[in-house]
Amino acid sequence: MRTQVAIIGGGPSGLLLSQLLMKAGISTVVLERKSRDYVLSRIRAGVLEQGMADLLREAGVAERMEREGHVHDGTNLSTAHGMFRVNFKERVGKSVIVYGQTEVTQDLYEAQDALGATIVHEADNVALHDVTTDKPYVTYEKDGQTHRLDCDYIAGCDGFHGVSRPTIPADKRQEFERVYPFGWLGILSRTKPAAEELIYANHPRGFALASMRSDTLSRYYVQVPLTDKVEQWSDQAFWDELRRRLPDEVSQTMETGPSIEKSIAPLRSFVNEPMQWGRLFLVGDAAHIVPPTGAKGLNLAASDVHYLLEALKAAILDKDAGALDQYGPRALTRIWAAMRFSWWMTTLMHRFPDQTDFDQKIQEAELHQLETMESAQITMARNYVGLPY
Ligand code: FAD
Ligand code: PHB
Repeated sequence: MRTQVAIIGGGPSGLLLSQLLMKAGISTVVLERKSRDYVLSRIRAGVLEQGMADLLREAGVAERMEREGHVHDGTNLSTAHGMFRVNFKERVGKSVIVYGQTEVTQDLYEAQDALGATIVHEADNVALHDVTTDKPYVTYEKDGQTHRLDCDYIAGCDGFHGVSRPTIPADKRQEFERVYPFGWLGILSRTKPAAEELIYANHPRGFALASMRSDTLSRYYVQVPLTDKVEQWSDQAFWDELRRRLPDEVSQTMETGPSIEKSIAPLRSFVNEPMQWGRLFLVGDAAHIVPPTGAKGLNLAASDVHYLLEALKAAILDKDAGALDQYGPRALTRIWAAMRFSWWMTTLMHRFPDQTDFDQKIQEAELHQLETMESAQITMARNYVGLPY
């Protein structure tokens, strides 16, 4: 097989890039290790920035999002002293859209099918070859046979555990990392959301988040030690713990029910530099991970797609090969801004195992500032709704 851009990974970054490239008249082949059902069963992010929503519109996959997504003009922060709201719309004139990653991925698969895209599922042992030459190729196994895909460029959209990043020699790249000493236990339940907008709670027992996917589907998280196992947490134990950490007025009226999904995710900040190696370009979680506190993971994957799309269009359609070298530096400026914001929000909202009374007072002072100071709210709002790209 031959294509212009080989895309490794059929998650949101790979599918969105493929969709946008195909619409620009550039051919793609997507190689995905798992089945489509498996990819669609992963419950992940839920908050879309306006920039990502605009990119989905450009890709022609926003129709259901416009219909079923919920626009949120602000968010709630809960502290030991009560709850307050940061009004994004008022502070920076922008909002976010609550619409699940699963739905985005499903919409992308349907749009790709409609364009006649080539998406190879259950592609095993994907390997990248000759990426520093102008004739790179990819090999993979499918149904016991080895296949070869020749291409001009490779987009590594295969997430944190993919093969693309390790294709860059270890001595040619640098990893920047912070691992946090806790995880998030999350559940999805067919219940009415606890509030109209999200609630991020700073509580002495640990962080909690009340989120949602729709009017009838809720997503909740509580901070747990890394040693906790999901089997230890019955639904009842989860709801009891969540109630303790949310404001009383919310806990008293909150609907509970059986969980449809329950999992623990560790929290990590991670960046790999550079994002380009010859004709290989890393995109999304393959290049970076943020802790979920700022709701930035999926949105950063989308801004990478935007920058790479621009660079590939310039290189392929306008014969401006130099544009490709700009991809990494442009993407990284925005990535580090989101790294800082996610780290800040994580540090502000969680209980750390070694946290002293002094540290706690500092958290409280910062939350007070956020509650009372317009400039602090503007900075938070600008980052939360997403920096422009
Ligand atoms: P992925 O979604 O990881 O997609 C990569 C794809 O590549 C996968 O389909 C994978 O099967 C495939 N692949 C991997 N290796 C290979 C290979 N060798 N060959 C072929 N294909 C391969 N973000 C938020 O903003 N909020 C959240 O609540 C949130 N929760 C999360 C929970 C979990 C458990 C995880 C892992 C992430 C979460 N994120 C969250 C982050 C967000 O989901 C990611 O940033 C987003 O999925 C990135 O998209 P991606 O396409 O770059 O990577
Ligand atoms: C979610 O709904 O899964 C979600 C929302 C906001 C976050 C993280 C996760 O910051």
